[in-house]
Amino acid sequence: MTSLDEIVALCKRRGFIYPGSDIYGGITGFWDYGPMGVELKRNLKNEWWRTMVQSRRDVVGLDAAIIMNPDVWTASGHTKAFADPLVECKICNQRFRSDKPQELRAHEETHANKGEKVSWTEPKQFNLLTEVLLGVTEPKLTAYLRGEITQGVFVNFANVVASSRVKLPFGIAQIGKAFRNEITPGNFTFRSREFEQMELEFFVKPSDAEADKWFDYWMEERKKWYVSLGIKAENLKFRKHEDNERAHYARKAFDIEYNSPFGWSEFEGIHHRGDWDLSRHKLTYKDPQTNEEFTPWVIETSGGVDRATLFFLLEAYRKEEKRIVLGLHPKLAPMKVAVFPLVANKPELVDKAKTIYEELTKYFMVAWDERGNIGKRYLAQDEIGTPWCVTVDYATLEDDSVTVRDRDTTKQERVKVTELSGYFQKLLGIL
Ligand code: GAP
Repeated sequence: MTSLDEIVALCKRRGFIYPGSDIYGGITGFWDYGPMGVELKRNLKNEWWRTMVQSRRDVVGLDAAIIMNPDVWTASGHTKAFADPLVECKICNQRFRSDKPQELRAHEETHANKGEKVSWTEPKQFNLLTEVLLGVTEPKLTAYLRGEITQGVFVNFANVVASSRVKLPFGIAQIGKAFRNEITPGNFTFRSREFEQMELEFFVKPSDAEADKWFDYWMEERKKWYVSLGIKAENLKFRKHEDNERAHYARKAFDIEYNSPFGWSEFEGIHHRGDWDLSRHKLTYKDPQTNEEFTPWVIETSGGVDRATLFFLLEAYRKEEKRIVLGLHPKLAPMKVAVFPLVANKPELVDKAKTIYEELTKYFMVAWDERGNIGKRYLAQDEIGTPWCVTVDYATLEDDSVTVRDRDTTKQERVKVTELSGYFQKLLGIL
């Protein structure tokens, strides 16, 4: 299995992910996405949007503000219940989550190695909402960076119903940043203090049969989506939440977990939120046919963009005898194609390659490389997951065709320059 260290090293070396504020020594729980990472993450979000919004008549999109009236978080129950149990080591005062026994054991071991025996303080509930102070006069308004992107959807429920033609059952989808003052950020980007979520809130009639039907449907849809983009089914599993671990808003919850180097780990949750949120915000729905007024129930799919990105990287990474390959699904790959002139000191080859590069950039992200020998350029593209490399050589000047080399098979074929963009669009499934 790929180790997390290998991925962390590749991410820094190849411009996927850097530690946040790196030149100032970093800041725990924050990460910056580099030139490759930003493309990978954007491709992932675009695919999610295409599947969850663009290709469905029963889902619309939304982009709500990160900072909301603080009353939202009181009504939703987050100011009281959005908390993790915190304990402190009585020897070194380091703080941990008492619901993460593995992390407690690891800490106890570091002291045991020095002949010390840890005792812990009683667990205290530690609220994860991040406070911000707003305004120009004292006292400033205490607001919060949103702890889940979800509440923006609920407070706009009536706006969306009034301004679009949605009818139950329907969904509102959103992608955006969320913030949690995590007690123990760790495992690279897995537990961060700033992260992105991609969520669907799907509103249904308040009935057990309806809710169960949609819950099962969305569980399967979400798993299918990850598999369609390259995660092996055997590396995914569902885990049902026990009664004592469910979030305050959930009647029923399943995690989708990935078989990661640090154990099976959640990266998406499917939640039956019942009428918790809409009733807290005193919102109802009037059936346009019957005029009956009621509070819909909500089935939620809540995925982490950063966790999914990390797991797609782990899944794609493979070490072969002579190369490291990031076998990302072409739809997710940061660069779809790389274009090379065979040598950099032949202006005819460079000019022709530039023309091809410019033509292809009309359709997708394209890499350009003219350094060193072709073999090294292939290896560099393999490490960032570029599915196809195009080489312009002397034959190109004669027959207007190029060599296209496939990342996974390393096989090469000649393709006419005039057919090149259609050739890649077909391979990407967009033509
Ligand atoms: N609206 C429901 C909700 O926020 P959640 O299970 O708390 O549910 C959903 O979070 C997803 O958000 C998680 O499955 C995970 O992928 C991501 N997530 C949550 N906390 C995170 C953190 N500290 N760092 C990175 N991703 C996180």
